[in-house]
Amino acid sequence: MNTKQKVIIDCDPGIDDSLALMYALSSKELDVMAITIVCGNVPVELGVQNAFKVLQLMDRLDIKVYAGETKPLVREFVSAQDTHGMDGLGETYIEAPKGYAAEEISASEYIEQTLKLNDDISIIALGPLTNLAKVVQQDKYALKNVVRLVSMGGNYKSFGNCSPVAEYNYWCDPDAAKIVYENFAFLGKKIEMVGLDVTRDIVLTPSILSYLKRINKEKGSFVEKIVQFYFDFHWEYEKIIGCVINDPLAVAYFVDPTLCNGIEAYTTVETEGLCLGQTIVDAMGFWKKDSNAVICTSVYSTYFMEEFVYRIFGGNRKEIHSMLAQL
Ligand code: RIB
Ligand code: CA
Repeated sequence: MNTKQKVIIDCDPGIDDSLALMYALSSKELDVMAITIVCGNVPVELGVQNAFKVLQLMDRLDIKVYAGETKPLVREFVSAQDTHGMDGLGETYIEAPKGYAAEEISASEYIEQTLKLNDDISIIALGPLTNLAKVVQQDKYALKNVVRLVSMGGNYKSFGNCSPVAEYNYWCDPDAAKIVYENFAFLGKKIEMVGLDVTRDIVLTPSILSYLKRINKEKGSFVEKIVQFYFDFHWEYEKIIGCVINDPLAVAYFVDPTLCNGIEAYTTVETEGLCLGQTIVDAMGFWKKDSNAVICTSVYSTYFMEEFVYRIFGGNRKEIHSMLAQL
C-alpha cells in the first residue's frame, strides 16, 4: 500500500495558487501537512484569508496555515494584485470562514522545525521563495532533509511575464530565489523547477470552465467566480482567451513527474540590473558547476488537464478525454 507523500505547500493565494490547493487536496497521494503563506500575489494577511477560503470549500479547515514573510529579503514588495485582484481572488471578496487565523509561529519557523524533526517531507513552493530563503538564513542545513522541492517559478527559454526575461515569483524576490538555488547546490540537491516553459501550455479555457460547472456545480462556480478577473487580464495583456494556470501544474508534476520532461543544469537567479529576476540555466555547463536543478522543458498538457478536471471536479474519465479532444 503506497503511503501518502507528506508535503508543505508554500504559496501566495492568488487565483492559480487556489486551484493548486484544490488539486493537492483532491489528490489521494498527498498528505498536506500545512500551508505556509508568503508575500507575492497579495500581502501575506490576504493570502492567509484566501487559504482559509479554499480550505473551507474543500472541507479541510483541519489543515493549519502559517503566515510568512511580509516583504522580500532586499527589494521593495511588489504584489501581483493587478493580475489577481486586490483581494487576490479576482475581486470576488468571498467571505473567509470566521474563527480561523494563522498559527502563532511564522512560516519559516514552522518549516525549519518540521524539517529538522522529519526526513520524509517535501515542499511545493508556488510563490516567491522568501520563506524558504529565511529558513536557509536561519540554518543552511535545514533543507538537507527535504525529500523534494518543487518550485513553480522561473523560465528557461520562455519569455518572462513581468519583464522580458523574468517570471514573477523569482522577480518579486530574486535574492531569495538565488539563496535557495545556491543552497541546494551547497547541499548537493536538486530543485525541480516548473517554470513558464511548461506552464504557458496550461490554459483554462471558457469551454473547459463551462464543463467544470456541469460536472460539479459548487466547485465549478467557485472557479468561474475567481477566474473572471484573470481571464480579463490574460485577454488584455496576452490576447489569450482563458487563463494560464501555472501553480496547479507544479502540484500535478509533484504527484506524477512523468507529466513533464526536463534537463538537469546548474541554475541561479540574477539579483540586479536590467535582467533582475532572470533565471540563469547553465544548460551547456560553461561554469562547470554540478547541477542543482531539474528544469522542466515540456509537458503533456492534455494529460494534465484530464487529471485536473477528474481529480478536482469528478466526472467520467472517458467523457473528460473526449470533451478535451473536441477543444
Ligand atoms: O509567474 C506565475 C507565478 O507567480 C504563479 O505562481 C502566480 O500565482 C504568481 O505567484
Ligand atoms: Ca503563486
